[in-house]
Amino acid sequence: MTDVSDKKTIPPHDLHNQELITENIRKDWNEIVDIIAEIINVPVCLIMKLDDPYISVLASSHSKGNPYHPGDKEHFENSGLYCERVIKTQSKLLVPNALKNEEWKHNPDIKLNMISYLGFPVLYPDGKPFGTICVLDNKENPYSKTIENLISKFRDHLQSDLRNIFLNLTLKDNLEKNAVLLKEKEFLLKEVHHRIKNNMNSLIAILELHAYEAASAETINALKDASGRVQSFCNLYDKLYRSESFTEVSTKEYLETLANQILSNLKISCQVELKKDIEDFQISAKISFSLGIIMNEILTNIMKYAFGNMDSGTITISAAKEKDNAVITVQDNGIGIPEDFDLKKSNSFGMRLINMMSGDMGGTLRVERDNGTKFILEFPILQ
Ligand SMILES: Nc1ncnc2c1ncn2[C@@H]1O[C@H](COP(=O)(O)OP(=O)(O)OP(=O)(O)O)[C@@H](O)[C@H]1O
Ligand SMILES: [Mg+2]
Repeated sequence: MTDVSDKKTIPPHDLHNQELITENIRKDWNEIVDIIAEIINVPVCLIMKLDDPYISVLASSHSKGNPYHPGDKEHFENSGLYCERVIKTQSKLLVPNALKNEEWKHNPDIKLNMISYLGFPVLYPDGKPFGTICVLDNKENPYSKTIENLISKFRDHLQSDLRNIFLNLTLKDNLEKNAVLLKEKEFLLKEVHHRIKNNMNSLIAILELHAYEAASAETINALKDASGRVQSFCNLYDKLYRSESFTEVSTKEYLETLANQILSNLKISCQVELKKDIEDFQISAKISFSLGIIMNEILTNIMKYAFGNMDSGTITISAAKEKDNAVITVQDNGIGIPEDFDLKKSNSFGMRLINMMSGDMGGTLRVERDNGTKFILEFPILQ
């Protein structure tokens, strides 16, 4: 038998609604009543449904002499029907011959000549009454134990269908609730990014104000460097904030915006042309964060040192995908980095930051002296 004892573990759900019985289930249940009526050779097998204040015929066997039709209904309370008793007592009712039974000899089904009855309650998974499954006969019928077992088994089948409907509904409900929660989470995340961006903008403004007020060139430069670094973080947050997923950014969009922004923050007398040869692919937010910091350091160095007294200079940024790796190069055609410069041994804050970030990305960074300076960063894309 279907176990309804674990009904307490099921959250409440409004199952008590006729719409829930789909066409497929109705078809299946119609077949059940036909089979039962045929096997036990009675004119009537019904599945009755309680639709307060009525009780109605949900499925009725297509057997000869069956006076009940799907959709027939009666007021439930005090109807005196066999099924009213089954539903109210939530237990089996067997009346072999109503005419010989004081209590049942005036019940409404006698008018239809249905003088014997065997019915079982059908319950929703939450224990509330759904209705009944029953057989009626126009002659005395004691209904054997085997018949009782058969109908009771089919009753279990109906209850397990109801349980499946319930589980599907609960699942659908949960999916809908999760979709709402996800939307809320996305909204909150956007809000967080928005605030971080605002805070960083305030920080940039403060650093620039201090740079403007600072007396020594050294202090001014240090404050401008710091402001540039914060600006590049801010740029990344802006990209993430605008992106749909917060998890990935496009190299083309990200590197182009980043380069334009860094260069426009560092005005120098040299006319600098920016060339871009950037293949578009997605990188994770985590990688783009490290990449942004590295780009900021390399481009800031170029603007500060590469072009010396030159009137014009060129910076070329390229990005390519090579198998599972990304290769990003930043090349200038300036005076060239000093021969004794060693990326790995440099103790400056900028180089330490670059080395740390390329290590974080699981990548390698090398520098070449080739008609200026060329930084080559290679890192695995999937992380
Ligand atoms: N693209 C370049 N072209 C020519 N010289 C460069 C270039 N990049 C760096 N340099 C030289 O290498 C030195 C080291 O750069 P690094 O970024 O380590 O230090 P920094 O910019 O002086 O200080 P920090 O970055 O820590 O604020 C610079 O002082 C500069 O002389
Ligand atoms: Mg530097």
